[in-house]
Amino acid sequence: MAQNIIAANWKMNNDEYSSKKLTYDFLKLLDRKNDNKTLKILCVPYPFLSSVDNMCSGTDSVFVGAQNCSSFEQGAFTGEVSTLMLKSLGIKYVIIGHSERRELFSEKNEDLLNKIIQSIEKEIYPIFCCGEPLSIRNKSTHVDYVLNQLQETVLKLNKESFKKVIIAYEPIWAIGSGKTASNEDIKEMHGAIRGGIKNKYGSSVSKNTSILYGGSVKALNAKDIFDLEDVDGGLIGGASLEAQEFIDIVNSIS
Ligand code: PGA
Repeated sequence: MAQNIIAANWKMNNDEYSSKKLTYDFLKLLDRKNDNKTLKILCVPYPFLSSVDNMCSGTDSVFVGAQNCSSFEQGAFTGEVSTLMLKSLGIKYVIIGHSERRELFSEKNEDLLNKIIQSIEKEIYPIFCCGEPLSIRNKSTHVDYVLNQLQETVLKLNKESFKKVIIAYEPIWAIGSGKTASNEDIKEMHGAIRGGIKNKYGSSVSKNTSILYGGSVKALNAKDIFDLEDVDGGLIGGASLEAQEFIDIVNSIS
């Protein structure tokens, strides 16, 4: 069985004070509820990784992740943050290939594969994002498009390395738009992704791979999405910036 995971993607929001406050409020609400077995990952901006990680150190199901990493190991790459640096801070997770990185910063599958390799080498689990733009969905070529994103990246890994990968399917048109994919859309894509993993690595690996859904997940729609076959959790953007809303999402997964 794949591990259930709810990951928060704070994106470029919050300053130091509000990051600590959001983490504090989240942990307090989490304590009050009976904690479930779901892994919670807070993917926060680089400057706040350590302080948020320190705050989470008393829990055994909340971890901190970065939102990006360099595709290079080290050297003259001004402004970049390496997986070696993340590892030295004790960070265990990193989002790779978010559509905002692909679209706004021109990250290509080739760069993303290098980032994935860098992260796995440093024992950091990549949360690899895939997803199609609306123009592709309108042409009904979305399944091939997403499988191709995987074929050019994570499916190039050997089996042992692939076992470290978490997949997040995020249709680009659903991100931050308030439009969630329909349950049928999500089921179709998650099933196709699991099928692609099975073809390459066999059914045991495919069953154990966590496949998250992301794109306008809110407390109101979370349970319906998480109850779908082949959905093992979510990658939550806007709704992770409010502690109670995020806790309600965490508590929607069974
Ligand atoms: P959203 O973002 O929940 O605000 O749609 C999800 C994401 O971009 O990871």
